[in-house]
Amino acid sequence: MNTASQKLVDRYGRSFPYLRLSLTDVCNFSCDYCLPDGYQCEEKKSFIDLNEVKNIAIAFSQLGTKKIRLTGGEPTIRKDFLDCLRIVSQTPGIEQVAVTTNGYKLEENIDQWVDSGLTHLNVSVDTLDSRLFHSLTGHNRLQEILSGIDHAHNLNLKSVKLNAVLLKDVNSHQFDQYTHLLKNRKLSIRFIELMQTGDNLEYFNRYHIGSQVLKNYLFSNGWSEKIRSASSGPAVEYYHPDYEGTFGVIAPYSKDFCDSCNRLRMSSTGDFHLCLFGEQGYSVRHLLQSQEQREELKETLCNLLGNKRKTHFLHDSDTGVTPNLSAIGG
Ligand code: 5AD
Ligand code: SF4
Repeated sequence: MNTASQKLVDRYGRSFPYLRLSLTDVCNFSCDYCLPDGYQCEEKKSFIDLNEVKNIAIAFSQLGTKKIRLTGGEPTIRKDFLDCLRIVSQTPGIEQVAVTTNGYKLEENIDQWVDSGLTHLNVSVDTLDSRLFHSLTGHNRLQEILSGIDHAHNLNLKSVKLNAVLLKDVNSHQFDQYTHLLKNRKLSIRFIELMQTGDNLEYFNRYHIGSQVLKNYLFSNGWSEKIRSASSGPAVEYYHPDYEGTFGVIAPYSKDFCDSCNRLRMSSTGDFHLCLFGEQGYSVRHLLQSQEQREELKETLCNLLGNKRKTHFLHDSDTGVTPNLSAIGG
């Protein structure tokens, strides 16, 4: 294959400028919908090392990736997290370096993360009620996390987002409280519909609520939907003339959700995933070891992309092999 023309484009014409790279599946939180009993360490896993991270970043960037999100588990618990940030941000062609974190130690560490190249920060905040936060995540840290977000907001980041999984009776009546945060802050709060995974069926049945409830709230409170650009990914954004911040809604069960898919995933053990759901991942770890393997790695990635399906099958309760999202990165 002509290497110059190699790009990550699938059978349906979608291209993939965005890679989600999981650095570990270990997490120190125990969110009820994800790891209700906390992280269980069955066998000792060896997560990709810095050399492998570097080889992934270079290969994807040469195939057209512009944005890499470090995710997990909780990526920031890695001892070499700053090195991971540095390696990714120094990769030619990578313009955006993002992290998704539960915000543990955000306040103490955000300056260093930014110094090491972080440009986009997403923090999970599933409720603004301290007691509920404690019981949902196992950590009584809401106030520290919110001050960490405030601190981050004052730094020179390209974006700061809060992620909340939309949960019936947990946060589905807290939209006013989230709205307050947006008055004078250039933040985006993204509500993600709860997805069913292999582990969480009972929880899903109890707490899943469609995003229409949020859309109704937004429309009746003067928020308007933004026109979407072709590259905007699956979130629908809402703005309000009196607020600096925006809301985003991610509704994976909505019709045509997958049409705007722009992302691919690498797991923390070197498996290439074409979709969060419905497939097993393809191990490419043996091709991550040296730069001499780069062309073979790139060709393998492009060929595997030919297997990407048009859509996930969540509607049929087919969760594939994903037991929970910490396993391959949320
Ligand atoms: N449904 C929706 N979002 C989830 N996340 C984790 N598990 C689920 C699920 N079952 C989210 C986290 C975080 C990101 C890493 O993925 O809340 O925002
Ligand atoms: Fe950890 Fe994120 Fe899962 Fe919560 S949702 S347990 S923070 S990986």
